[in-house]
Amino acid sequence: MKFPQYRARRMRASANIRRMVREHRLSPDMLIYPMFVTWGKNVKDEIGSMPGNFRVSVDNIAAEAKEVESLDIPAVILFGIPEKKDENGSEAYNPDGVVHRAIREIKNACPDLVVITDVCIDEYTTDGHCGVVDDKGAILNDPTLELLGAMALTHARAGADIVAPSDMMDGRIGAVRIALDDNGHKDISIMSYAAKYSSAFYGPFREACDSAPAFGDRSTYQMDPANANEALREVALDIVEDADILMVKPALPYLDIIRMVKSQFNLPLAAYSVSGEFAMIEAAGRNGWLDRDRAMIEALLSIHRAGANMILTYFAKDAAKILNT
Ligand code: PBG
Repeated sequence: MKFPQYRARRMRASANIRRMVREHRLSPDMLIYPMFVTWGKNVKDEIGSMPGNFRVSVDNIAAEAKEVESLDIPAVILFGIPEKKDENGSEAYNPDGVVHRAIREIKNACPDLVVITDVCIDEYTTDGHCGVVDDKGAILNDPTLELLGAMALTHARAGADIVAPSDMMDGRIGAVRIALDDNGHKDISIMSYAAKYSSAFYGPFREACDSAPAFGDRSTYQMDPANANEALREVALDIVEDADILMVKPALPYLDIIRMVKSQFNLPLAAYSVSGEFAMIEAAGRNGWLDRDRAMIEALLSIHRAGANMILTYFAKDAAKILNT
């Protein structure tokens, strides 16, 4: 291959040629739409830093799910915004909690839509941490595992298909697997937030859930953005504990990690394109600084090209609309 005999531009000469040599294609099949569910009547409350995304009350959640299903998106992931928070995040594993009610509503209306639930107590604790906190402010690992197991089990009992622990405690995948298996839920899958970084890009999500930590940050449990090999160790641990699906989070600033995990392990791989990634593109689009739709598709394509089979994204509905036409 050498110029002038070889000319790379020949393979870009027309739309049909480009179509023939295209290596990656996005499809609604790979999209997962995050939904925020809250109490109240007929609530559909737009999230300030995530325009076009809403906190939706339980009574409106089935309608939202039907819209997602009508766009040929196979799955949603649910986040709960409880009425009351407490020290142990007890609403997280209350069988009649806000997420549990939403699961039942969605499964009633859309039995085939895959319902994934985020398993983590930070949206439910007064201090906003992902683990139980002792009187010195330390985040306790092992006592948290019990709560995560209880939370996952109550989600499974409500009808969730996949539970997704996002807390980054050590040993959580094994603890959740045992809680599920010991109680007759061998068929419920676990999507592990295996490599989850302590990231500034979660900002808008924490506004949506009012879940910013009341003191300190999450760096004693979420990963240091400077580390890559550590992600492989985290993933390996979760595989030993029988995770079914791996996840890297965030996505765009961690495309290298997605690629590394994809090449070293052969489990289905998801990437979470988080709230801050959405907000950047959306804000630039609204300012007229970027072509929002093109930037959205290009960003999603990069995540897929890096190796993600599934993408959790707040753009899921808008991307599906474009991909379906
Ligand atoms: C923890 C959780 C978070 C996100 C998903 N699960 C917040 C955090 O770790 O602070 C963030 C998702 C996003 O930013 O879109 N329950």
